Amino acid sequence: LATGAPLDASKVKITRNPNPSKPRPNEELVFGQTFTDHMLTIPWSAKEGWGTPHIKPYSNLSLDPSACVFHYAFELFEGLKAYRTPQNTITMFRPDKNMVRMNKSAARICLPTFNSEELLKLTGKLIEQDKHLVPQGNGYSLYIRPTMIGTSKGLGVGTPSEALLYVITSPVGPYYKTGFKAVRLEATDYATRAWPGGVGDKKLGANYAPCILPQLQAAERGYQQNLWLFGPEKNITEVGTMNVFFVFLNKVTGKKELVTAPLDGTILEGVTRDSVLTLARDKLDPQEWDVNERYYTITEVATRAQQGELIEAFGSGTAAVVSPIKEIGWKDEDIHVPLLPGEQCGALTKQVAQWIADIQYGRTKYDNWSRTVA
Ligand code: COI
Repeated sequence: LATGAPLDASKVKITRNPNPSKPRPNEELVFGQTFTDHMLTIPWSAKEGWGTPHIKPYSNLSLDPSACVFHYAFELFEGLKAYRTPQNTITMFRPDKNMVRMNKSAARICLPTFNSEELLKLTGKLIEQDKHLVPQGNGYSLYIRPTMIGTSKGLGVGTPSEALLYVITSPVGPYYKTGFKAVRLEATDYATRAWPGGVGDKKLGANYAPCILPQLQAAERGYQQNLWLFGPEKNITEVGTMNVFFVFLNKVTGKKELVTAPLDGTILEGVTRDSVLTLARDKLDPQEWDVNERYYTITEVATRAQQGELIEAFGSGTAAVVSPIKEIGWKDEDIHVPLLPGEQCGALTKQVAQWIADIQYGRTKYDNWSRTVA
């Protein structure tokens, strides 16, 4: 798709909110419920290309009711976080990965692509305006939600000729108030999250709405989330809105394996997923550990659980970072995942969460994973 005039961060216009808000106490922060004082909007049209970026007071959007976002789901989003470091600077965690994925999502649904670096500069400026609202403390951060919608009027189904890219930010606390809380999953084979040739690897809003009903159905049976299976083999793909990892112990060789599904087009290319894999490959002793992206099935999990070879399982995503799993309902039985005595997770899950948090909060430097913005 030809995008016309490129996105240019140097053209940004800033209108300060005349009524700046005070930071809320950390314990009042509910995920995605409080927003900061400013938002970033950037219009795009096929005629003009990317228009003037505007950082302005957080406010409603005004759209024609026939806008294509409302009818044909021309919508994509990203989720990333900014953290307050011990030096009181604000850093974004691996934002370049989100920009790459956002451009892939845009290209897939014929919305305009953009220069990643320019959007990162603009997002940095947005965060700067609301720097005082970035919370402090382990588990607390600023959740950043870049979004793009098709805004062209008319009910014809076709390439949007107008779009809006906007970014809103939300101070958030830990996904689970009590820190880690291991969840019960229902292995779900009566609904499919994503399929080959589909868009399950893109961050489109349209992937999320259809997952709520199966989640409610699982909840009726006492499970918090769906463990999404795929195909006649019943491959394990994702959990809820997250990627998923399992840890097995091979009792014959004594070797442990960290495993997650491969990126075959049905799996979201999670930034936390990539961070877990990268850190595990870098830090775990290869004599003791294999770190694999491979297909594995619910049958393998069930069988190995019976043999005492299933030792941990956890979801990974930006919102919760890692989310330990304690039980999986499958065929009228519950597969039990062991937890550390008196704790809500296994040893590797705990270790991985610590590695990631240390980098996110700027206690450790790792590669160029942190980008200072304010
Ligand atoms: C994540 O970061 O885990 C998500 O994708 C959650 C988001 C849809 C709220």
